[in-house]
Amino acid sequence: MSSSDKKSIAVIGAGTMGRGIAQVFAQARYDVYLHDAFPEALTAATGQIGKLLDKAVDKGKMSAADAAAVKERIRPVKSLGDVGSHPLVIEAATEKLDIKIEILKKAQTHVADSGILATNTSSISITQLAAATDHPDRFVGMHFFNPVPVMKLVEVVRGLQTSDDTVVRTVALAEEVGKTPVCCNDHPGFVSNRVLMPMINEAIFTLQDGVAEPEAIDNIMKLGMAHPMGPLALADLIGLDVCLDILEVLHRDLGEDRYRPCPLLRKMVLAGRLGRKSKKGFYPYD
Ligand code: 3HC
Repeated sequence: MSSSDKKSIAVIGAGTMGRGIAQVFAQARYDVYLHDAFPEALTAATGQIGKLLDKAVDKGKMSAADAAAVKERIRPVKSLGDVGSHPLVIEAATEKLDIKIEILKKAQTHVADSGILATNTSSISITQLAAATDHPDRFVGMHFFNPVPVMKLVEVVRGLQTSDDTVVRTVALAEEVGKTPVCCNDHPGFVSNRVLMPMINEAIFTLQDGVAEPEAIDNIMKLGMAHPMGPLALADLIGLDVCLDILEVLHRDLGEDRYRPCPLLRKMVLAGRLGRKSKKGFYPYD
């Protein structure tokens, strides 16, 4: 910990997932050192977290004093070298193997003695990432779900080298911040994305084949299957580039045609229609 009486954590990456993780830990009374290589991402992250907390105050779900204290506990850090040393460091950067390895090699120097280095990767091999670190036994997947402040699950993913002690401590940390951890072993897509992404991909093939309009596809899955949102709206929420990255990992590493990304998904990503974050995906967003 950065000081003896306070709980602290570093979150590397202030995108959609990193900022959500930062908010959840700050709400659980952790001092959060939030780093991103792009200063504008830090500004956007603190701005968005601030808005969500203000909304919670307006709705009477949090006191103004508590919201202010949560905001105060989130410290944006422009230089990775300044994040300090913490018992838990969570990497939530871009979903690209080379970039993750580069960040993890630096991030591990900010893990306190016997601390845990975790990655929020949605599909990259935990075993492979662990192998690039100095303490693979204390490396683990801590996979959060979007929107992080709302979704209860943390998929705790165990690499080949992850120790029992690391898994036990990661489960306890997830519980401490109000999440429900569920453990699984490292395998492409883990459980969540191995099951979810083929459904999203199939919905996009269904659209590409002209079977129905996006609203109809989503309504059928919402009303017929009791999903909170349809697969195309969910793809827009996750980010179409992220969906494509995950499907490519599944296709390559599991080696089966059934995981082949739909050509329409590729086209949407090439066109820069990435979903909510680019204000256009299968639906427009203001
Ligand atoms: N950030 C924080 N809070 C949010 C939010 C966001 N982006 N979006 C919605 N919320 C909050 C709202 O403020 C509201 O809070 P309240 O109950 O305290 O008032 C609550 O969530 C419900 O929101 P709404 O009433 O606006 O809308 P819905 O009832 O339709 O819920 C939803 C929105 C929570 C997004 C719901 O549609 C849902 O659960 N969708 C499925 C999401 C899902 O499957 N996520 C997993 C994606 S896969 C993933 O992340 C893994 C990765 O590896 C790909």
